[in-house]
Amino acid sequence: MKIRPRRSVLYMPGANDRALEKARSLPADALILDLEDSVAPEAKVQARDKVIAAVKGGGYGQREIVIRVNALDTPWGADDLKAAASVKADAILVPKVSRPGDMVSAAKLLKAQGAAAETRLWAMMETPLAILNARDIAGVAGDADNRFSCLVLGTNDLLKESRARALGDRFAIVPWLAASVLAARAYGLDVIDGVFNDFKDEPGFRAECEQGRTLGMDGKTLIHPSQIAPCNEIFSPSTEEVEWSRKVIQAFAFPEHKGKGVITVEGRMVERLHLVMAERVVAIWEAIAA
Ligand code: COA
Ligand code: MG
Repeated sequence: MKIRPRRSVLYMPGANDRALEKARSLPADALILDLEDSVAPEAKVQARDKVIAAVKGGGYGQREIVIRVNALDTPWGADDLKAAASVKADAILVPKVSRPGDMVSAAKLLKAQGAAAETRLWAMMETPLAILNARDIAGVAGDADNRFSCLVLGTNDLLKESRARALGDRFAIVPWLAASVLAARAYGLDVIDGVFNDFKDEPGFRAECEQGRTLGMDGKTLIHPSQIAPCNEIFSPSTEEVEWSRKVIQAFAFPEHKGKGVITVEGRMVERLHLVMAERVVAIWEAIAA
């Protein structure tokens, strides 16, 4: 499968014309055009029309286009999904997923609508049940017909539902983030961290990006253009990582190392599993450069 960098994933309210326009020139890897919680009930239908027109209008280049629909049990969900299926979005993001069946239902609806095969499904992990059922939800990816490719953490909703305290180090929710990363990896999904609300606090934002990267997140969801550059920087492999990875790849390619499971590179033990990791670092690096 083609590797897609998903370092920076910017949300924008579907009702906001200026944001939809501005996103065409912002250096985010992916854009989430939102019809759900950032759109007031009175503006839902109009926002849907705007988002569909924006996607049809194009001009977003390499950026991955994701439409966040309303949940299927709301008055707008089914119509949002039908409308989203009619344009070739890269993905449709299903909110408030709590059970595997929520993803299977969305996949069936997309199929019934004749959505393009390339259109993937992403899931918001933002309810207590989503975290408790993370393994089974991610397991839906085992059936390729479900077109499932990515989990997105909804940390504001998790804080609301759990009544956990929102402290700077995310002490209360780190276990849920980590559980989501494991569920994603167990079934070959990408996983994107939640948003940082205080968008003028760059040091705080950077620290949270670093924490997410340490946990294994592929990237972070963003709310403001000013968050894109630091996020891209932190979620890109560093020059040192890329150089080291190239050395590991070269070392395993030496004729004398052919067929060896473990070798020494600059005094460090390196196994074939490190070769696989090194190949991924270089592949991500090349995808970013492209
Ligand atoms: N996507 C694209 N462009 C955005 C943007 C976003 N999420 N947020 C702000 N911008 C644009 C503004 O339109 C403005 O453009 P301009 O100056 O070139 O006309 C510029 O960036 C600066 O914006 P600023 O004035 O600093 O912010 P704001 O007060 O207009 O908006 C928010 C602040 C938080 C309301 C806005 O950033 C936002 O709506 N973010 C996304 C919220 C969201 O989608 N939430 C759902 C998931 S949590
Ligand atoms: Mg939410």
